Amino acid sequence: MLSGPGSAGFARSFVFLLSFITGWTAYAAQSELSKLPRPAQKRIDFVRDIQPILSMHCYSCHGAEKQENELRWDRKVSALKGGSSGPAIIPGKSAESRVIHLVSGLEKNLVMPKKGSG
Ligand code: HEC
Repeated sequence: MLSGPGSAGFARSFVFLLSFITGWTAYAAQSELSKLPRPAQKRIDFVRDIQPILSMHCYSCHGAEKQENELRWDRKVSALKGGSSGPAIIPGKSAESRVIHLVSGLEKNLVMPKKGSG
């Protein structure tokens, strides 16, 4: 499970996810890093704030049963390791983290969560 004190840095790097997924359409059209919304200023609790998002939107393809591009979000070690293209999270640097680029639509040819069975 992704919980406990050790996940603070990991959780911080996910601060954008929440706002991206809730404000999905507003951000999907943007294309410059500078336009990314500022990281959340409040304290983020991984289990309360982040895990439900991953579980609802990502586990179907990157979880225990299926690991698209070898990426798996339901375990801290594998989440930090990243997928077949390398780490998706740079702890503490959300704007440089690929996962943020993908969920925000910065990479036009690949947007997560991918539409489909998820
Ligand atoms: C319907 C299935 C599906 C869902 C749901 C999904 N993904 Fe993906 N994901 C894929 C597939 C397929 C790829 C590989 C795509 C490619 O490289 O062409 C991928 C690749 C990725 C990669 C790049 C991994 C690498 O190293 O190449 C990241 C990061 C990622 N997904 C994050 C997420 C996140 C975060 C969510 C939830 C918000 C999510 N995905 C939901 C199918 C899905």
